[in-house]
Amino acid sequence: APACLEREELSFIMIKPDGVQRGLISDIIARFERKGYKLVGIKVLVPTQALAAKHYAEHDGKPFFPKLVNFLSSGPVVAMVWEGKSVVKYGRTMIGATNPLASPPGTIRGDYGIDTGRNIIHGSDSVESAQREIALWFKAEELADYTPSTAAWVY
Ligand code: TYD
Ligand code: MG
Repeated sequence: APACLEREELSFIMIKPDGVQRGLISDIIARFERKGYKLVGIKVLVPTQALAAKHYAEHDGKPFFPKLVNFLSSGPVVAMVWEGKSVVKYGRTMIGATNPLASPPGTIRGDYGIDTGRNIIHGSDSVESAQREIALWFKAEELADYTPSTAAWVY
């Protein structure tokens, strides 16, 4: 890619097994896309327990950790990297609170969930977390570097 292209902020966003099984992939992608964020990496996979445990390493030792790791590796997830201004913080706003019952309508968890253990989607909680998570789930060559139309009328 030309050296003049500078990446904006990146976030790791993952549709968890419940979101995939419930048919929410297209809805979730549409929300990020329509907001104006750019999809630069995507893959469907069933995470191993080891990968799930690494992803959630910060929670190792907590009572919910074993269930969390089992859940994440119980079926296919959609792992994604989204790019754009403040995508980490605003992505979390779009996702909502950890407990779906504390998430207002209009957020992904508020619209679709009722259980903390089945809260549909993951989003990086900081730029540093995003860098760690992207490196864990993606190789550099799996991330596209492209410029969509920059016309002001796109959004
Ligand atoms: P956490 O990183 O605190 O939440 P978030 O996904 O909003 O960043 O927790 C990671 C996941 O662990 C959370 O999405 C659901 C699960 N979890 C539980 O099952 N029980 C709990 O009490 C908490 C705090 C989290
Ligand atoms: Mg978290």
